Amino acid sequence: MKNILAIETSCDETACAIIDTDYNFKSSVVTSQIDIHKRFGGVIPEVASRMHIEQISVVIKEALLKAGLTMKDIDYIAYTYGPGLIGSLHIGSIAAKTLAFFHQKPLIAVHHLKGHIFINQLVKNLEFPLISLVVSGGHSEIVYMKDAYSYEIIGTTLDDAIGEAYDKVARVLNLPYPGGPQIDKLAKLGKNTYKLPTPKVDGYNFSFSGLKNAVIQLINKLERNNEELIKEDLACSFQEVALKILIDKTILAIKNYNVKQVVLAGGVACNSRLRELASQEFTKYCDLILPPLAYTTDNALMIGAAAIKEIEKNNFADLSQPSVPSIPINE
Ligand code: KG4
Ligand code: ZN
Repeated sequence: MKNILAIETSCDETACAIIDTDYNFKSSVVTSQIDIHKRFGGVIPEVASRMHIEQISVVIKEALLKAGLTMKDIDYIAYTYGPGLIGSLHIGSIAAKTLAFFHQKPLIAVHHLKGHIFINQLVKNLEFPLISLVVSGGHSEIVYMKDAYSYEIIGTTLDDAIGEAYDKVARVLNLPYPGGPQIDKLAKLGKNTYKLPTPKVDGYNFSFSGLKNAVIQLINKLERNNEELIKEDLACSFQEVALKILIDKTILAIKNYNVKQVVLAGGVACNSRLRELASQEFTKYCDLILPPLAYTTDNALMIGAAAIKEIEKNNFADLSQPSVPSIPINE
């Protein structure tokens, strides 16, 4: 068994974790910048990079301390090389490369979304073929995996990611950033009373910008007509339409690809209604892994978990490995 020190800095969480190559948890430290970005209503890339610089050494030190290990006990250094904010990615990359170079350890460059999927291996054995519904602030994808090393994006959003749609709808409802958790909470208090359109998209793809615009137009119309807006009901109505799209497309994929398992991944996998619907619907067809809440949003443990797959394939990076702001999971 070998120890992996993993670093994640792709967006607004500065994180370091230690995991061994048998998926045993050693430590996980995440510092979130949400309180700072809240003031601006969203992530400001320049501010995020500066915060990563301040936090990166602190989280690395703390992860080692919590695991009761020193750099001598670490066998591999893993980090997120993309996708994400380029300035933020660079901080994690520089930290990982410095550690790898100074301590002469192999370096592993990990795709952020592979991390969101493989953190689930800490919950339960992944069984292939599987479908992963990857839903985050920047991504909405249905990924088919025939084995642990192959990724096929069979469905994706044609415009906004689901988390982005949640955050934008939250903003027009004057809710604080990040909006997803706020809509989730509010929707529990409301009813599905507002009629919103379901976009018609063929196959496994989906689209959320029409739905988001319909919400904005509805709010404007109610304001113009001096009619009362029941925020709870609108949050509930938006969520029901948005999630039904994801659930229906995933069921279509589960059936057609005849998979053994479906795995939820990414920040939106926190959503209580999505978890409820997934448990009700997906389990009619196959096994389901619902990650615990701490594993859904960005963390470094997920990067360590996905690094194990790269080690198995002897897929190591060198110091010239670039950070990449946008790169599909299957490249
Ligand atoms: O995976 P993540 O932490 O970062 C990215 O890689 O994007 O996902 C963040 C996204 C945000 O858009 C946030 O609003 C959304 O996940 N989110 C939620 C919930 N918790 C976080 N969306 C809906 N319901 C939630 N409970
Ligand atoms: Zn993420």
